[in-house]
Amino acid sequence: MKDLIWKKDGKGERADPAIMAFLAGEDVLLDRDLLLFDLEASAAHVKGLRRIGILNTEESSRLLDGLQLIESEFRDGTRELDNHFEDGHSAIESWLTEMLGEVGGKIHTGRSRNDQVAVALRLYMKDRLKRLQAICTQIASVLLRRVKTEADIPMAGYTHLQSAMPSSVGLWLAGHAEAFIDNAELAALTTHWLDASPLGTASGFGVNLNLPRKAVAKDLGFARLVVNPQYVQNSRGKVELQALSVLSACTLDLRRLAWDMSLFTTQEFGFVKLPAKYCTGSSIMPNKNNPDTIELLRAVHAVVQGAQSEIASVLSLPSGYQRDLQATKAPLMRAFSKALQALGLLPGLLTGFEWQTERMCESISPEMLATDRALEMASKGIPFREAYKAAAVEGEKISAEKIAQSLASRVSPGGCGQLETGLLQSRLSALKN
Ligand code: ARG
Repeated sequence: MKDLIWKKDGKGERADPAIMAFLAGEDVLLDRDLLLFDLEASAAHVKGLRRIGILNTEESSRLLDGLQLIESEFRDGTRELDNHFEDGHSAIESWLTEMLGEVGGKIHTGRSRNDQVAVALRLYMKDRLKRLQAICTQIASVLLRRVKTEADIPMAGYTHLQSAMPSSVGLWLAGHAEAFIDNAELAALTTHWLDASPLGTASGFGVNLNLPRKAVAKDLGFARLVVNPQYVQNSRGKVELQALSVLSACTLDLRRLAWDMSLFTTQEFGFVKLPAKYCTGSSIMPNKNNPDTIELLRAVHAVVQGAQSEIASVLSLPSGYQRDLQATKAPLMRAFSKALQALGLLPGLLTGFEWQTERMCESISPEMLATDRALEMASKGIPFREAYKAAAVEGEKISAEKIAQSLASRVSPGGCGQLETGLLQSRLSALKN
């Protein structure tokens, strides 16, 4: 471990490797994913210090060049953030000092690792929510594109997993598309909600320097400030939970979609054929072709839920910075990394699978027309309850024309005959702009 930045004579001399390893935990490794945001915020802080005359032009440009060099070396892998350091925040100062001498020690004027980590995390969440929003709109686009050509393919509709009414591929696709449009909107709203800069609040009490907080926030692309220094710390974990709640909405929908697909690929349903690359064989049963990818996609929601509950459990704290807050970082990052990876596979999967249309038509039996029949009678003036009793439809088979008629007659807005994809499409376009 390098010298600790906070170590001064007579303090910290008993630094014990086992205790230091416990305190830093996996922190320094997680900070690899935060480092670029930390460097960005550090550069904005340097410019802020220059504005108020704490740094002169020469000092600030040396520091900015140093930060730039660290960034490019970190990106190309020649500079590594490893457990020689307590965390990414102190690594930056330590690298600058190594590179530039005394001036490196000036970068921390007026900031604390407490606001440093908070700003890096807000930038991280904004970035990940932006990626999430893009993936959700991509998923919805793929689904709506398929609606254009496949809307009228018949598919049995189920409630209680029991045959209910004739339904369509269009209804299924558009239903999942609407879910991901909602999720993309949630991501946008949440980004707006957390788009506030904590930088310049230092350890949680403000500082006796007139830091240009607003200008620094603007420089970093934040819409506003988290004004109160105490609230910067108290909002840690709370903001993470909100970001995770968007992620959780996405993986909940992912789980339901994966559930559908896993049912549809069974021999019993036989509605869907998956491209071979999403499946694996069995080590013992030569006949097997298993939809493992879909099952692991279904399992991702558990990771997000676990992260939410881990963070919520940490947040039993008094006001101000407590080191416990560090423990909110790993679950946040673990969940985003797993879920974005999983959701990123969906556009390909949703483009690639094929419907087994013949089998899907066979899954529709005549008695599934009973509701249509009852409503038809009711529309001619028979009280619905009477029509309900008289509506049984018998027979062995149902013709393709009859199914098509049933689907086309479902004209209530959103129904199989009136999917209203135009409404979904315009919400989607608004999200892309
Ligand atoms: N790794 C720490 C965290 O995530 C950084 C802040 C450390 N601050 C402190 N006062 N020790 O909370």
